[in-house]
Amino acid sequence: MPIVSDSSGAAGNIRVFQDPDALARAAAEEFRRRAVTSIQERGRFTVVLSGGSTPVRLFEKLAAGVPGKGEFSWSAVHLFWGDERPVPFSHPESNFGSARAALLSRVEIGPANLHPVPLEGKDAAAAAIAYEKEIRSFFKLPEGRFPRFDLVFLGMGSDGHTASLFPGTPAVQESKRLVVAPWLEKLGNFRITMTIPVFNQARCVIFLVAGAGKAVTVRKVLEEEDRPGRFPAGLIRPASGELFWFLDRPAAGKI
Ligand code: 6PG
Repeated sequence: MPIVSDSSGAAGNIRVFQDPDALARAAAEEFRRRAVTSIQERGRFTVVLSGGSTPVRLFEKLAAGVPGKGEFSWSAVHLFWGDERPVPFSHPESNFGSARAALLSRVEIGPANLHPVPLEGKDAAAAAIAYEKEIRSFFKLPEGRFPRFDLVFLGMGSDGHTASLFPGTPAVQESKRLVVAPWLEKLGNFRITMTIPVFNQARCVIFLVAGAGKAVTVRKVLEEEDRPGRFPAGLIRPASGELFWFLDRPAAGKI
């Protein structure tokens, strides 16, 4: 894929791509590479998908099939969601709904491998509690331990939020729970979101960020260590895992 630059530093590995299509292709290739390795080594591949619009191209590339070495079966892939909106899966705002339309309906993956936020008939708080229970059970986690996902995709808003962890909200400080349901004044709604410690326990986190509108925040998050807690996206530092920022040229325009 047309990669413009590839560098690494304190804030992780930064790869800049010509355009959103090249960015999505690279993310799909990284997904495939890690799927083959994880399944060979551990018999499964556990992935957290991000929401919003940026990852849709990635979903479409994965659905179309990604060229590369080695094969993997979707039956060994388990998909989770880093955050979700409290709407039905059929709602255009649903992150699960978006992945179902672009990817899940087009690959051989069964319901036992899909772990959406269990919203049916629950309010956001109850869904967060139920999701945490499901994650703990899947990973056979004792209390106090965090799951170690093989791959986490994250996006970033121009305000530096990631998943549904928004600047200045208590959810950003959560250090014990896996999943919380913050009320977000600016959205006038609740969200359900995994927490920073979950993301920082992952083997690999890849931010997918595209568009000039995010360039200033990308620079602040990647280059300004002035107030490390200022942006939730800047708090994502996997303790014993890899961190990648996949940017298109406009999003990388200020670094
Ligand atoms: C969500 C996402 C959110 C998203 C960013 C970027 O549910 O909205 O998890 O964190 O990744 O807001 O969104 P875009 O990709 O649409 O710019």
